[in-house]
Amino acid sequence: MENFLAQIENALSQQAYPTRPAGLYEPIAYALSGGGKRVRPHLTLLACSLYSDDPEKAIPAALSVETYHNHTLLHDDLMDGADLRRGRPTVFRKWDANTAILSGDTMLILAFNHLLEGGYPNAAELLQLLARTAREVCEGQQYDMNFEQRNDVTEAEYIEMIRLKTSVLLACALKMGALVAGAPADQADLLYHFGEQIGLAFQLQDDYLDCYGDPAVFGKQIGGDIASAKKTYLLINALESADEKQRADLNRLLSDEAMPRAEKLAAVIQIYNALDIPARCQARISAYYEAAREVFNQLNVAPERKQPLWDFAEKMLHRNK
Ligand code: IPE
Ligand code: IPE
Ligand code: MG
Ligand code: MG
Ligand code: MG
Repeated sequence: MENFLAQIENALSQQAYPTRPAGLYEPIAYALSGGGKRVRPHLTLLACSLYSDDPEKAIPAALSVETYHNHTLLHDDLMDGADLRRGRPTVFRKWDANTAILSGDTMLILAFNHLLEGGYPNAAELLQLLARTAREVCEGQQYDMNFEQRNDVTEAEYIEMIRLKTSVLLACALKMGALVAGAPADQADLLYHFGEQIGLAFQLQDDYLDCYGDPAVFGKQIGGDIASAKKTYLLINALESADEKQRADLNRLLSDEAMPRAEKLAAVIQIYNALDIPARCQARISAYYEAAREVFNQLNVAPERKQPLWDFAEKMLHRNK
């Protein structure tokens, strides 16, 4: 299999940003050179390789989705008050909130530029896909923020929220790869649906790792979701299956703004563990993978040709960061 990761890193490192104003472009270079798993551009190249012998032509599209993703992170970290990303200070902590806003905005524009400059005959379709996806991610992020203030968020509402904030971008990344390859519309749509399913699993795993990840590996501060009273899969299921005392404890802990972060995290995790929440979360992740597998099986591509995409999806399932 081709070394797509090396190709992505190479293409990212060759991006020449203007030097002035430094305050605008330095944070962009910082964000895009800071590692990260590169899941979305990888999906674009893998999807393209299903239908084309020249997956490199998807590199501009891959740069587009990764630049767009990092744009969302600059804003997301500001909205979530997160100090750490990929083991380094977040942009709004290293610089300030205005920097995260404006450099983030610029990255959104650069994401569209990558598609415009890719020389794609179907550029309008690709731009439309990114535009729709970007708007949906904003919708998901708005729900995520709204849900911080609510204690009655249902699992269905949560799933729709994460579909919007996370899944649609994985789905878009895959569909873009297919569209760049000139794949039939039904295949591009199947890949989109596949991406939606693995995207739901991906965000559940992110929620899980936010509580149960290894701080030395995760790269983000553990317990950020609990500190912000995020309505995660873990919390919604815990509130639903808790007895009266546990529910009262959870609600009291989540709304206690004076309690030290580590103490609150330990107390909430104790309740999660008592309710077997980690195992339930992992079971749900597996269920989304099974649903993804069913869609994957419908792809009209030779088994050996599509195996690398499944292998990559499986690696995502077992990730620890
Ligand atoms: C973080 O995405 C945001 C989510 C949708 C969970 P990733 O976990 O892909 O972050 P990086 O790019 O690898 O750092
Ligand atoms: C990610 O949600 C969604 C987007 C960035 C659009 P999170 O807020 O859970 O992502 P992390 O955990 O900060 O990476
Ligand atoms: Mg966040
Ligand atoms: Mg967030
Ligand atoms: Mg998270």
